[in-house]
Amino acid sequence: ELSPIDKAKFVAAKKSVEFVEDGMRVGLGTGSTAAWMVRCLGELVREDGLKIRGVPTSTRTAALAREVGIEVISLDEARWLDLTIDGADEFDGEFNLIKGGGGALLQEKIVATASDRMIVISDVSKEVENLGAFPLPVEVIPFGWQTSKALVEEMLDSMDVLGQSSTLRMNGDSPFFTDEGNHIIDLHLTRIGNPRQLAMVLNQIPGVVENGLFIDICDTVIVGFGDGRVQVRD
Ligand code: A5P
Repeated sequence: ELSPIDKAKFVAAKKSVEFVEDGMRVGLGTGSTAAWMVRCLGELVREDGLKIRGVPTSTRTAALAREVGIEVISLDEARWLDLTIDGADEFDGEFNLIKGGGGALLQEKIVATASDRMIVISDVSKEVENLGAFPLPVEVIPFGWQTSKALVEEMLDSMDVLGQSSTLRMNGDSPFFTDEGNHIIDLHLTRIGNPRQLAMVLNQIPGVVENGLFIDICDTVIVGFGDGRVQVRD
């Protein structure tokens, strides 16, 4: 028996695979909600003979996709994708997102941007008026990361944001490493006034590879509720 939150994630994931058609190249997101989606897709492949190729957004998702019987190809083999389905940490009324709670934001943003359509699957608790309560992940290369972190904090002083502390993401006692061998600085902002501007300015800072703000990338949000209801919004 699933908890209400897992039920909400599951029904959103289950609904999303209805948008996958034979022959599609599909971007496979990362996280617990996306994992449900990958399992549902695997079932369609194994039991209904659905023919798709999947481009995973992390080593974790690649392993799961193979395990459930989805043919996995690289983004360079696929080049362009018909559809990407992924989770999110927050979404607002314009379908702008914060992602990267699982640390896979870089591959997720590249894959989503290469797709004709991005569907986000989420439980209703991640819907917000203003982005920013969830810590915003910023991926930095390990070289000089403390300098990059200081530059990010300095830049935040001049931006329309509330709360300006940042922390290096840890994995136990050592820094967390992304699939690309980078670190993540989490920005504790509480409220982001202008996400579009912040996303652009962050990526100008030397050492910053990418940030977790997804602006104008998501087309559809499928929202799941704890009682099993699901809404498709686009
Ligand atoms: C992974 O890097 C993230 O962008 C995930 O998509 C996000 O953290 C959502 O994860 P859950 O579905 O586990 O909440």
